[in-house]
Amino acid sequence: MDQAPVRLLAIESSCDDTAAAILSDGKILSNIISSQAIHAKYGGIVPEVASRMHQENINLVVDAALQKAGVKLSALDAIACTAGPGLLGSLTVGISFAKALALSLDIPFISINHMKAHVLSHFIDDPTPVFPFLCLTVSGGHTQIVLAEGFDEMKVLGQTRDDAAGEAFDKSGKILGLSYPAGPEIDRLASLGKPVYSFPIPQIEGLDFSFSGLKTAILYFIRDEVKKDPGFVQHHLHDICASIQHAIVEILARKILAASKMQGIRDIGIAGGVAANSGLRKKLSEMAVEHQWNLYFPAMQYCTDNAGMIAIAAYHQFLAGNFSPLDTAPFVRGME
Ligand code: KG4
Ligand code: ZN
Repeated sequence: MDQAPVRLLAIESSCDDTAAAILSDGKILSNIISSQAIHAKYGGIVPEVASRMHQENINLVVDAALQKAGVKLSALDAIACTAGPGLLGSLTVGISFAKALALSLDIPFISINHMKAHVLSHFIDDPTPVFPFLCLTVSGGHTQIVLAEGFDEMKVLGQTRDDAAGEAFDKSGKILGLSYPAGPEIDRLASLGKPVYSFPIPQIEGLDFSFSGLKTAILYFIRDEVKKDPGFVQHHLHDICASIQHAIVEILARKILAASKMQGIRDIGIAGGVAANSGLRKKLSEMAVEHQWNLYFPAMQYCTDNAGMIAIAAYHQFLAGNFSPLDTAPFVRGME
């Protein structure tokens, strides 16, 4: 007799996206994301506003995920949720909801580390990487290189000492007067220009990153050029964006190359919102040919914050019988 499939509901609310996904036997049946556009008017995420929006959205998002998957609450085997790292108020909404639902349905609760889930987003669709592999996780909140040796065996080899890569895009965009988040717009404008302005690449030993010097260099460069020509940004926007993107991509590419050489590993995954960047994809694809890497990018919907990646991480925890107590608390830091 066939065994009944493992069905999970996963919830993600660590930052400004309220997300829910349904997984059945390792396959994602639905992946619903409600992004909070409201933060654009503040030029960045306001934590108190984010948690209130999660509170408003979470029921709707979970209902939509169940409906799209055609799965009833009574068919679920476990409820998973991001426990951290993230914004405390945002995490609390998701984790309280998930624990209450697990308790009322009398099924296990599974808490998931958001950073590990980004790495495991590579296991949602084929082709999947082979352990051990390196994952460059780059988003608005994180920039790190992780050595993944198993579904639950991960080590951070390097991380940012200040801003995340996505933050570098967003803050540079703010200097140029672009709206938040500026990453996608810089990507689009960069494709129309050339990297004719050079910005300094920080020389940090090891595998750590730094982006704050670049941000300052861009700020001073724009300030000086605008003094000479008030229309400088407007007239050279494409080339400025191409130059900023080139510098950020160069910082990321040099470190992942160094990590690959140090570890002797050629299976490399890229995760997080910045993995959408076309300049980064192009550069790493060229490097993959040159250095004989097997390079993996998850589908776009699984790069930015999503619950599909929480579901796949929870599936492997479920198979390992790794459940979480109902007094599991959200955490702000961990594997950062
Ligand atoms: O993973 P994500 O949705 O949320 C977290 O920050 O966790 O990533 C959002 C970040 C933002 O900083 C955004 O500007 C950046 O990813 N981003 C991009 C692109 N698409 C999103 N950065 C550069 N190029 C893109 N195409
Ligand atoms: Zn994230």
